[in-house]
Amino acid sequence: MEKYYHRTACSICGSRNLSLVLDLGQMPLANAFLKKEELFLPEDKFPLCVYFCRDCSSLQLLDIVDPEILFKYYDYLTSASKPLAEHFVWMGKELAEEFVSSQKDLVVEIGGNDGVLLEAIKEKCRVLNIDPAENVAEISRRKGIETISCFFSEGAAEKILSEHGNAKVVVANNVMAHIENLKGIFSGVKKLIGEDGVFVFEVHWVGNLIGEGGFDQIYHEHIFYHSLTVLKHLAESIGLKIFDIKIVPIHGQSMRVFAAKNFEIRSSVDEFLAKEKNLGLDKEETFLAFAQKISDNKKRLIDMLGQIKEEGKMIVGYGAPAKGNTLLNYFQIGHGLLDFLTDTTPLKQGLYSPGMHIPVVSPDKIDEKRPDYFLLLAWNYADAILAKEQKMIEKGSKFIIPVPEAKIL
Ligand code: TMP
Repeated sequence: MEKYYHRTACSICGSRNLSLVLDLGQMPLANAFLKKEELFLPEDKFPLCVYFCRDCSSLQLLDIVDPEILFKYYDYLTSASKPLAEHFVWMGKELAEEFVSSQKDLVVEIGGNDGVLLEAIKEKCRVLNIDPAENVAEISRRKGIETISCFFSEGAAEKILSEHGNAKVVVANNVMAHIENLKGIFSGVKKLIGEDGVFVFEVHWVGNLIGEGGFDQIYHEHIFYHSLTVLKHLAESIGLKIFDIKIVPIHGQSMRVFAAKNFEIRSSVDEFLAKEKNLGLDKEETFLAFAQKISDNKKRLIDMLGQIKEEGKMIVGYGAPAKGNTLLNYFQIGHGLLDFLTDTTPLKQGLYSPGMHIPVVSPDKIDEKRPDYFLLLAWNYADAILAKEQKMIEKGSKFIIPVPEAKIL
């Protein structure tokens, strides 16, 4: 495969009736943090354009970057974001409580990263992590979790089935947006869960992306921006039924979706589908209006930061999440406006942000420098971060939330 290729048909339904609703231009990869010696080398950039399918209403990228480039080495660790790690520990326990009845039961996690969820339940049942990133898989293994370093597919599912038997639960958090061949995932999971198992996944909800959340969740790793409406059709086309849905406060708002062959469908499903219809998630105009909102906010945030700098104040970026790089690159916010980014992920510290080349440092630097303003790039953890930085706020530092409409808290 070339580094990327351009699809001409919808990845979900195969239609060519696609409309470009948002063009973010040429963008570096959101997790391609750079070493100092790489700063003067040419940087790969790829088109970041969002298309609406007029036939199945899905929202997706058509410029697909080779997954080997995106996921074989991964700077992102679940355990580096305390609120996320706590969420997955809690989720693991809930799933074990509801669906695991014996120590012989198997729970498989697709893209289980450094094993936070499985570690929380590994005494209750057999666990298996499938994650393509070698560096992350190694961390998971060190926690005593059997981990296979590969991309999940129908073929991988067959191999797991022959070596480990059926899974009672297959979990996939924050991966259903990342995989082009979703039909292959559903088909593989269907084989793996047999007649009695369940497939539970969390994925960011498109209703949040265009509403209270931020457009910055759009980057090459996220091929899809899902609605339940689209996922339901897709699951049914493979012979799985979505039987329950919950909204969880992760990445703004994510859907926790439950699918299986033989479970009774709960009322939550029809209620949520009706909500999506009311929001116009099946209409192209909804996404064109979203694109307009982004360009209005671009002007608003740039003006705000410019004014603060004119007053001679220091601004730093709080967090160096992948989404921050979409925001910084699309809004052209560089080292002239932000002195540095702080991030709790050791793998990112000492590196430079893709495209804008802002240094990423450890949060220890905050105490030393006492910035006047923080641009909260990790806005999805605002509550936890504001609570953690209360002392800094009392001393006069202010937080800026960049999306959906920039505001100073
Ligand atoms: P995420 O939104 O994709 O989970 O990424 C969040 C990033 O923000 C991740 O790199 C860790 C970082 N982070 C901090 O630097 N400080 C914090 O307090 C939290 C919660 C996250």
